[in-house]
Amino acid sequence: MKVLVVGSGGREHALAWTLLQSPNVGYVFCAPGNGGTATMANCQNLPLAVEDFAGIANAVTENQVALVVVGPEVPLSLGIVDYLRKQNIAVFGPTKAGAQIESSKSWAKEIMTQANVPTAKSATFTDATAAQEYIRTVGAPIVIKADGLAAGKGVIVATTVNEAIAAVTKLLDGNSGKLVIEEFLTGSEVSVLAVTDGKTIRPLAPAQDHKRIGEGDTGNNTGGMGAYSPVPSVTDQLMTKIKQEILQPTLEALKQKNIDYRGVLYAGLMITPTGEPKVIEFNCRFGDPETQVVLPLLDTPLDEILLACVEQRLEQLPPIKWKAGSAVCVVAASGGYPDVYEKGKAIAGIQEAIAQGAIVFHAGTKLSQEQIITDGGRVLGITAVADDFNQAIASVYDAVKSIQFEKMYYRRDIGHRYSQ
Ligand code: AMP
Ligand code: GLY
Repeated sequence: MKVLVVGSGGREHALAWTLLQSPNVGYVFCAPGNGGTATMANCQNLPLAVEDFAGIANAVTENQVALVVVGPEVPLSLGIVDYLRKQNIAVFGPTKAGAQIESSKSWAKEIMTQANVPTAKSATFTDATAAQEYIRTVGAPIVIKADGLAAGKGVIVATTVNEAIAAVTKLLDGNSGKLVIEEFLTGSEVSVLAVTDGKTIRPLAPAQDHKRIGEGDTGNNTGGMGAYSPVPSVTDQLMTKIKQEILQPTLEALKQKNIDYRGVLYAGLMITPTGEPKVIEFNCRFGDPETQVVLPLLDTPLDEILLACVEQRLEQLPPIKWKAGSAVCVVAASGGYPDVYEKGKAIAGIQEAIAQGAIVFHAGTKLSQEQIITDGGRVLGITAVADDFNQAIASVYDAVKSIQFEKMYYRRDIGHRYSQ
């Protein structure tokens, strides 16, 4: 079978790579893909933007593609799934209505209230003065969120009232004219990616992401500087609670709104000091870099899971199987990211890292005259799988040492919360 993956990041390289491990998948197309998917065997990039729905639909027909998997939130929130489904194309991802769980924070909060899902207390505002008054009443720390998609830049965790008041005008969403103000939660963050066919939902292995640019979790937020799976502190008992108290009720609330959700429901959770999971946000897609550690541990062929969702027979799918051990991913970024950085630097050492046993997922790279060069902020995700967490950390950092490009930056403390 042939599969088409929409997107160009580390997540999409990981999806394409995992699909190609399956005995059922012979060939993968990526639209538009990156330097990693351009150079992987049995994989081909198509020069199509993720918003080019007609071009993607034509490529599906021309190449007899059996399944489309959508990586990023932008085409989902623009309705790529609605468009392709109308043409009877099998596509994994939620419809535009379902994608609102990520594209509108106020809508997601409504769903959570309806479903009685534990989350931070919040209020939605359309008026800056009313929002600022509310902040003066409840005080800081407090969290201000733009309502719409903001590529990771729509959240300000304010430690003082003045900072929160300044955040209001900055974040009042230009499109929706809304913002969400919520209670500041403490604890440890966990990402639970779950697959659903709109009727049943199954969590994948939990992952933890390092969002900040600096070591010790300091500095600006990024798309994610590293991740690991599973998470030592997330017990089976906690996963059961997450499924029963968060994932299932949310799916029920989506059903009540007549939303036919066949894709990933990604719960970004805060596990409070008393062990209670609370939702920080929902995403409508696979997480990145979480996907780069969750998928290498998957033992069930990925296409079987995705097709079971698309064909609404997830309940009949045998239990999802996992490899023993741990996976750790370290992101190599362009110096200056998440602010200003340069592109076009030649990358050396990828083959050496692979020879050491690592998996090198490309994110912001491209193939230019037979050479892989940098083409984005997050450049590579270097992943190691080992029998245990500490071994995975040791081998990922050995492999990272092989890789070089001008002004390469990476965090040296991925996994610091648990490593010994
Ligand atoms: P989001 O885009 O909603 O995931 O927010 C980005 C980051 O801001 C999260 O990963 C958290 O680190 C932080 N954050 C968001 N909401 C809260 C909250 N209510 N309490 C504490 N931290 C938060
Ligand atoms: N790693 C965070 C995200 O995918 O949104």
